[in-house]
Amino acid sequence: AERDFVPAVVIGSGYGGAVTALRLGEAGVPTLVLEAGRQWDRAGEDGRIFCSMLEPDHRSSWFKNRTEAPLASLMWLDLVNRAVRPFAGVLDRVHHGGMSVYLGRGVGGGSLVNGGMAVVPKRDYFEQVLPEVDADEMYGRYFPLANRMLGVNSVDQDWFETCESYRYARVSRAHAHRAGLRTTFVPNVYDFDHMRREELGEAPRSALASEVIYGNNHGKRSLDRSYLPAAVGTGNVTIRSLHRVRALRQEPDGTHVLAVEQIDELGNPLGTKEIGCRWLFLGAGSLGTTELLVRARETGALPALSSEVGRHWGTNGNVMLGRLLAPWERTGELQSGMPALGIDHWHDPVHPVFAEIAPLPAGTELWTSLYLAITRNPERGEFEYRAADDSVRLRWDVSQGDPSIDAAKALFDRINRANGTGYRHDLFGDDRAFENRFTYHPLGGCALGRATDSWGRVRGHRNLYATDGSLIPGSTGVNPFVTITALAERNVARVLAEDFPR
Ligand code: FDA
Repeated sequence: AERDFVPAVVIGSGYGGAVTALRLGEAGVPTLVLEAGRQWDRAGEDGRIFCSMLEPDHRSSWFKNRTEAPLASLMWLDLVNRAVRPFAGVLDRVHHGGMSVYLGRGVGGGSLVNGGMAVVPKRDYFEQVLPEVDADEMYGRYFPLANRMLGVNSVDQDWFETCESYRYARVSRAHAHRAGLRTTFVPNVYDFDHMRREELGEAPRSALASEVIYGNNHGKRSLDRSYLPAAVGTGNVTIRSLHRVRALRQEPDGTHVLAVEQIDELGNPLGTKEIGCRWLFLGAGSLGTTELLVRARETGALPALSSEVGRHWGTNGNVMLGRLLAPWERTGELQSGMPALGIDHWHDPVHPVFAEIAPLPAGTELWTSLYLAITRNPERGEFEYRAADDSVRLRWDVSQGDPSIDAAKALFDRINRANGTGYRHDLFGDDRAFENRFTYHPLGGCALGRATDSWGRVRGHRNLYATDGSLIPGSTGVNPFVTITALAERNVARVLAEDFPR
């Protein structure tokens, strides 16, 4: 087969991949980024790049016939999801038996679809989760660097208290306070000044036009507006979209060889090629990186990989739930799609919870407070290879999500008691109040210090690195992208200093 060679390859263009590409490019290393999804820079016939959550079309979903939104129903009715034609859309939901995982597909990975919440983890918890990482260095240097590079900003509190778009958050905050709980403002990468001007009618609406999970047309500093253009701007980094890495191997002289499939936006195969490189960085996300490594180990392509690869995977304890409020408690028809507040109950010794006060931007009053709760669920999943269909499957039993529900229930029962409210049972397709069958925050699979050394060097094979959420063993206690970004900054600095010729 025809084979190209580049010194360094980065697989995936999410947080880990984008950071790595920029720092390699700055160091003068010719680098190729291979991204399975498309580049989101061309407007469709409606003049917009992304579709809205209320009118999802083919752009919403990664090769599906029907959208698969996190809120499956309203009043138990199947009003939310739509038939769509299969396309290289921006949001994927990957099904693994008892767990499905949401992730972003495109140049920018999860940054294209996420809620933009930029949270530095609690230091003592970070130290527990990643004991081999120097916390002084992280909190003194790499978290501030990540926040600066990502363009993190905070909401103007005077505006927050008076605007229409955060009425839902103020109502939810009042209910938490009535239960004696603490709330906290959460920084974001969405430009809050743009949002303020959206409400005034001075800027085109995105956060205020129900845009989130299928992309934002304005206001959001996703990676394709921060790290990635900076990487390309070094002159050393090339990004190829709609290029999916299928397999990895390493030759005796140390050359990594990748089998890469190129597709068009409709999924038609455009050909397969081999790409060789000396340094290989895996930034395909927790699922993507783990899948590539587990398959490579089990098929004998990278036989020296440790048995720790494919372990220590978790959901960051994610649970979603809605509370039904009294008819006089309006949450507002206009709701910012970008969250700005959280309930911080992480210090609870039995049931720590950090709950994002989530929008329900349906464009109509629903008397509902929605939450994405992050809990400390100690359960971990493992990945196994199935030779029969060459697939890598996550083993996660539905019951492993129970500790997440127990924690969320303890907190929200307390809020309901204090406010005379109850749960909504009509949002998740059946009559459950707590949805723990999906996660937005897949973490682990190639855990730092276990499957890799303390800097993300994958054990067993030379010049092979994990750079993304796969490094974090299952939990960060907060929304994870700032942690992923900061860790990638820390690791690539060390790797560039030690593993590259000067
Ligand atoms: P990420 O998943 O970002 O990127 C991996 C990239 O690799 C993808 O673009 C993928 O297409 C590509 N890829 C995978 N396999 C490949 C292959 N074989 N070949 C080529 N390319 C491949 N977090 C947070 O901190 N605050 C928040 O508000 C939210 N909100 C939120 C909402 C929703 C709806 C989702 C789905 C997620 C969030 N998150 C979040 C989570 C956050 O987006 C997530 O943790 C990060 O994007 C993970 O970053 P990574 O670098 O690990 O991979």
